[in-house]
Amino acid sequence: MKTLTFRKALIWGSLVLKRSAVPEPVLSARLLLQHATYRSHSGLLLLYNKPILPQILAYYRFLINRRKRFEPLPYILGYHYFMDFTLEIRRGVFIPRPETEILVEVAIKKLRDKKGIVIDMGTGTGAIAIALARFCPGLSLIGIDISREAIALARRNARLNGVGSRIIFRRADISNAELPQAVAIISNPPYIPTYQLPRLPLQIRLYEPMEALDGGEDGLEIIRLIVSRAREILLPGGYLILEVGEGQSERVKEIFIQNGFEDVEVFKDLLKIERIVSGVRYEG
Ligand SMILES: C[S@@+](CC[C@H](N)C(=O)[O-])C[C@H]1O[C@@H](n2cnc3c(N)ncnc32)[C@H](O)[C@@H]1O
Repeated sequence: MKTLTFRKALIWGSLVLKRSAVPEPVLSARLLLQHATYRSHSGLLLLYNKPILPQILAYYRFLINRRKRFEPLPYILGYHYFMDFTLEIRRGVFIPRPETEILVEVAIKKLRDKKGIVIDMGTGTGAIAIALARFCPGLSLIGIDISREAIALARRNARLNGVGSRIIFRRADISNAELPQAVAIISNPPYIPTYQLPRLPLQIRLYEPMEALDGGEDGLEIIRLIVSRAREILLPGGYLILEVGEGQSERVKEIFIQNGFEDVEVFKDLLKIERIVSGVRYEG
């Protein structure tokens, strides 16, 4: 490619992504050009009609080629926004979704004035535990995950967000992790039924870790496991708050009730999908 202006480079990148049917091609191309030049949006506009340096152009082309193969933007950029803070993101660790912000909002309402330990099961980047540490000053958090990469990244994210001393992250399996008694358990577990995994969009299927998505035959295997662990771990009056997949809320409510949870509630996400199930375990 011969020398281009930034504007032409942006048009070129948008067209390449559009032709490959990448979602939001113009926005992706713009964010990648900002990343390649370390510029804000307005900083980039100031360069619009200037020629782009060959080494920046080469890097930008490399980024566009990654996105063209449907790699999610947060893996390319290395960061992602969650609630009102920024998380580092790395390949091999699940990218937090907007629905999970609703899970955190429900949890904050219930736990804001509580003191004690809250456990985030399947913590990933640490997004949920970090948000609760920031918004609920009386809580100490424990985040567990089966993935070594996730735990290393979660520790780093907690430090970067100033709550490193409030959260213990440990590599452990939900099924047998040794955990203390807690005032709440919160989780966005893997909940996609195994048979649906091959039908997920390319951007998820090719790049995100399968152990973060695979909820077993009916999608509810890890949810059942968490509910049964919650029965042993929760203190009397303790909360269990879970994110669930579309169409799963009724069955999850049943699982809660069968396991002795009361005050079971369901909350919708911004698309009006029943997304969060919460309950209280009054018996110890
Ligand atoms: C859907 S991701 C959620 C990550 C993060 N909490 C979030 O909301 O962005 C589920 C996480 O559970 C972890 N996980 C899956 N099975 C697990 C198990 N048996 N024990 C512990 N963690 C598990 C995965 O590694 C993944 O990080």
